Amino acid sequence: MGRNLLEISDLKKNDIKKIIRRAGELKELKKQGKSLKSLEGMSVGLLFEKQSTRTRLSFQAGLFQLGAQAIYLNPVDTQLGRGETIADTAKILSSYLDGIIIRTYGQNKALELSYHSSVPVINALTDLEHPTQIISDLFSISEQGIDLENFKLAFLGDGNNIANSFVAASATMGFNLSICVPPGHEPNARVMGEAMELGNSEIGVTYNPADAVRDADIIYTDVWISMGEERKGTEVFKPFQVNSKLLSLCSKNPFVMHCLPAHRGEEITAQVMDSPFCIAFAQAENKLHAGKAILEFCLLD
Ligand code: CP
Ligand code: NVA
Repeated sequence: MGRNLLEISDLKKNDIKKIIRRAGELKELKKQGKSLKSLEGMSVGLLFEKQSTRTRLSFQAGLFQLGAQAIYLNPVDTQLGRGETIADTAKILSSYLDGIIIRTYGQNKALELSYHSSVPVINALTDLEHPTQIISDLFSISEQGIDLENFKLAFLGDGNNIANSFVAASATMGFNLSICVPPGHEPNARVMGEAMELGNSEIGVTYNPADAVRDADIIYTDVWISMGEERKGTEVFKPFQVNSKLLSLCSKNPFVMHCLPAHRGEEITAQVMDSPFCIAFAQAENKLHAGKAILEFCLLD
């Protein structure tokens, strides 16, 4: 049967804890050079309509390591590129594959694919959310000895897919979140509303970076211009840059995180990006281990 992962809200707190625990086990096994073919004989399609380095490669390598076949589907080369519908495509892919990983523009497309698919669909980034990234990032945070139910994350920049997934994750896990964005760039209203309704954590939106970071354990940033939003200007985001002046206002010694790709000199300075307290490259590595745990959770459970 398996399960879809389209948004963070598809998961309960215990699901996230279970995936993170498993990511740790899989990371340890890999370090010991032990192989585990838990997905032996399976085939998974990766339908990516946007660029990707980390997500695509970590899923492809992870599938191979677990004994499964990864099939990359470039929409331009499939009949989707000539107008075949998502619904028909979903039915066809379901009859060949054991799972589909999709990176696309609108969340509706991923939803439509899952609606017509009889195999699990995993969202590898849409304009609305990037759930696999945030699960992997929670794994990275827990590796630093931080209690996932009791810390504060400050997100600076654009209220984009990463911000939305953190809003939902905060409500699910119970950690506190300060979203610091320019006016007009707040996270998605529906995701915010659902998180507020759950009421499990403090989620605030502020326009003042100093307020956001003051007591933060984690400072997180992402590109100012997400894929598909290239028409937006960067000027309005400049006060939200993560730089050493901003970090000097923190009362704790926060870790700095970035899902990458980074634009040094825009959302983060090179000095901060390349400093020892920036764990962006550990995050990138963990996408392999967390991705494998997500695959097992969605395809086997
Ligand atoms: N962080 C992330 O999703 O990177 P890619 O766009 O390279 O997959
Ligand atoms: N917000 C970024 C994330 C890239 C991993 C984007 O959607 O382009």
